[in-house]
Order: sequence, then structure tokens, then C-alpha cells
Amino acid sequence: MKNDTIIVLDFGAQYSQLIARRVRESKVYCEILPFNATVDQILAKAPKGIILSGGPASVYAKGAPHISEEIFDLGIPMLGICYGMQLISHALHGKVQKAHKREFGLAPLKVKAKHALFSGIPSVMNAWMSHGDHVTKLPAGFKVLASTSNCHLAAAGNDQRQIYGIQFHPEVVHTQKGTKLIENFVRKICGAKPTWSMDSYEKLAIEQIREQVGKGRVICGVSGGVDSTVAAALIHRAIGKQLSCVFVNNGVLRKGEAEQVVSMFKDQLRIPMTYVNSEAVFLKLLDGVSEPEKKRKIIGNTFIRIFEQTSKELERKQGPFDFLAQGTLYPDVIESVSVKGPSAVIKSHHNVGGLPKDMKFKLVEPLRELFKDEVRELGARLRIPKELLWRQPFPGPGLAVRLLGPITKERLDILREADAIVTEEIQKAGLYYSIWQSFAVLTPIKSVGVMGDERTYENVCAIRAVHSTDAMTADWVKLPYDLMGRISNRIINEVRGINRVVYDITSKPPGTIEWE
Ligand code: XMP
Repeated sequence: MKNDTIIVLDFGAQYSQLIARRVRESKVYCEILPFNATVDQILAKAPKGIILSGGPASVYAKGAPHISEEIFDLGIPMLGICYGMQLISHALHGKVQKAHKREFGLAPLKVKAKHALFSGIPSVMNAWMSHGDHVTKLPAGFKVLASTSNCHLAAAGNDQRQIYGIQFHPEVVHTQKGTKLIENFVRKICGAKPTWSMDSYEKLAIEQIREQVGKGRVICGVSGGVDSTVAAALIHRAIGKQLSCVFVNNGVLRKGEAEQVVSMFKDQLRIPMTYVNSEAVFLKLLDGVSEPEKKRKIIGNTFIRIFEQTSKELERKQGPFDFLAQGTLYPDVIESVSVKGPSAVIKSHHNVGGLPKDMKFKLVEPLRELFKDEVRELGARLRIPKELLWRQPFPGPGLAVRLLGPITKERLDILREADAIVTEEIQKAGLYYSIWQSFAVLTPIKSVGVMGDERTYENVCAIRAVHSTDAMTADWVKLPYDLMGRISNRIINEVRGINRVVYDITSKPPGTIEWE
């Protein structure tokens, strides 16, 4: 059964994906298209409704993003959010002007009319405003639905045409009942049926995998991370023995990580997996390398080479593979017009599970339509342990980009021990799941210390812990002093080679989360 679909047209807002997630939380399937999608592309999705996102432009500016006028005449209900509302007003001959004062933050919103859009929403609620322009005159046939003290036309609509606009952001958590408003639009106004759930998705995805793969065989590289594990578990449920998983130890994993991944697949999930311990190969190539991008390239390319070799060996033993499985998620496939944050270009972010470019396989990507929170929900249904599903993100190039200066086996082992202590203490303090990432960094700096009666001259280790929601921005965590003290004491006492521990108090921007 096909799900009813809502389309978000993206005008470059940082919140476009959040809008789509809120729609899906209302159990209605939602996809994001770039604002310049053609009418045919939109109609091909047979949407029950269209949401125009916010965006950084001014509708009256030269080169501002617009949509084809035809879209307004399709008879499909439409909701414009912020820039989206201004665009509707501009296109339908209302008026948009620069506001006297930029409005940013929470404002009490007064609902002026009894309306399906505000059903179940209190007559006064806090709404998140973030705009420099606003609508000063509504197009013909529109009436005002809600106001704030600064913004008279904070929500408006034309019931006959089913076109609505809101100046505030219902998708952000600060707006009270924002999700309810989005649900009202998609369910009550668009009439979309609430069929989207991970229960129905799991069944559908299993059917689709079976149909796509037929009697073919699938190879899947797993890293022990959430995405590849959930993809493998789902595919395994669909086609069982036709799936072969490969896990490559690249020598820059954390303490005990390879053993944990092997045991999770073999003992807990009971998914057969080939473990390739290539630690020595990677470390030989990485030995003495200091330059961060060079480390990433070596790790990425070597992974591809070893994965290819392994797949050929498995083919010799078991017969040919037809498909390569990947844990690609929806945010990676959205053709976004959003300006990518600086971190996208500052580091090459070579995904170590990346696709060998010239492989002959067709792709199986069963998570392509899902957001991360949906992947976790699906993972829980597939009985993947909670500790794995909520694990902090770990970069593909692993400890290599947390070891500054030349890589050696000895220095990796020092970092591994220090990192294990950080993780253990953060876990014991009950903070692991509320922190986005927490880890140790080994610097190439040596400092003088004194232990017992002896002078020491050893490495400086830095601790990094950040709060974040998407890794694009991050704040350093105000860890309790006694916890910092325990981490520092334990590292200096238990890890040979470190005699000083410092705490990183840089946020992102201007820093990045990783040190390299
Ligand atoms: P930065 O350091 O750019 O990191 O603030 C943002 C997020 O990306 C992760 N990261 C990587 N992930 N390959 C990856 O797969 C990489 O080369 C890489 N570099 C950084 C980092 O851990 C953080 O979550």
C-alpha cells in the first residue's frame, strides 16, 4: 500500500528536515524536494499537501528563489512557513516588507479564529519567530488567523483555495503545540492518512528487499555503527543466508571494539559475518603519517581495497554477489539547496564504509527514506541492543584523527587506553547518552611533570565533550569538576606515556568537534 505523501519544498532553511520529521511524527510520509522542482516532479509524488519551508532570502530581492505560479493552481493544499508565507503573499499579490525590527525568539501568539489549523491548540501559545521581513498586506481572499504583538499577520489563510501561511516556526521544539499544528495541516486540511510507522515500514521494506534481490546475493560492509547494523539486520530478516556481512578492523578502533562488534553480530543478532583483521596492513601504511587528510585518504582507500579483496575471496568460496548493501540515510540523499555548513568542506569526511566507485554491484539501500531517529526506532524493532542504537557517533577514520602528529602503534595504544577511561567514567556518571560525543585526544606536545620523586617528560592528553544535535554546531560540556578530576587522575595513574590532562573549552564554531 502506498503511503499518502506530503512534499516540503526547500528554500534553504536550516529547518527543512525538521519540518519533514514533524510531518512523519504525525504518521504521514513526507519528502523534501528543492524549491525549483518542476510541476511534473511534484505531481509524480501525488502529494496530498505541499509545505513551503523557510529560507534566508527576501522575496523581493533579485534572484530570490520562487516557485512556478502553476503550483498554486494545482488544487493541492499548501502551507508556507516564514519565507514560505512571504512567498505565497508575494506571488498572490499581497505585500511583503522589511520589518522595523528583526524578530527573533519566543513571542506569545494569539489565535484569532476558530480554524482546523489551530484545532486542539490553546488560544494563546508561545511561538518561535525568526524573521527580518513580514507580510504587511494579505492577498485577496485571505484572512488573518493569528497574531503576535509585533506581527499582526502571524498566520493567515484562504480556505477556499486551502492555502495557508504562518510567520512562526512550528517545527522547532520551542513553539508550543508546533507538532500539533503540522499534524492539523497534514491530517485535517490535506486529509492525509496516518499510515507511516516503523511497523508498516519494516514490513514494506522487507517485501521490497525480497523483490529487488530475488535469488541474488548481497554483500554488506558493517562498521559496528547504527546505520550499517540496522541495514544489515533488516536485510538479514528479509533474505537470511543470501546476505554476507564483512567487518574490517582498520587498526584505529577503540579498545575492545572489534570484539564487541563480532560478538554482537554472532551471538546477539546471529547474523553471519566475516571478520577481517587488517590492523597490521593499515598501521604499516599509516606509520609516521601526521597530515589529517592524508590519514583519511589512506584509511578510506585501504578499506575499499580490502573490502574488494574480501568480496572476491568470498565469491570464490560462495558464488558471486549481485548487490552491495549500504546504510545510506535520507539526509544523505536529499537534493538540498541548503547552504552546507563549513564543516562539510573543511574536512573531507571520507566515509570509511564508502562505496568502491567502480564496483559492479547494484545497490540495496533500505534506509534511504529514513531519518536517524526512525532508523533507531526500526533498529529497536529488530532487537538491536539499545547501547548500540544510542551510541555516540564515531568518525570513520577513528582514533587516527584523535591522535595528533605521527601515527605509531605505541601512540595509538596510549590513546586507546585514555579514551577507554574517558568513556568508562562518563558512563559511570550517567552522562554518556546525554552527551553528543566525549573522547580523548592525544596531542604531540610533551610536558614536564613529577611523579614520585622523578621528573617525567611525557604526552599531553586533551579531553573533549560536546553537546550537539546535528554536529553542525556544538557546545563544550560543563562536566562536573569531580568527574574531570577522576578522569585526569585515572589517566595519569593508569596510562603510561601521559603526564598531563587538559580540557577543551572550544565550541563549534569556531572549533570543530574532532581536533583534526
Ligand atoms: P567536525 O570535527 O567536522 O565533526 O566538527 C563533525 C562530525 O563528523 C564526525 N567526523 C567524521 N566522520 N569521517 C566520518 O565518518 C570523518 O572523516 C570525520 N571527521 C569528523 C565527527 O566525529 C563529528 O561527529
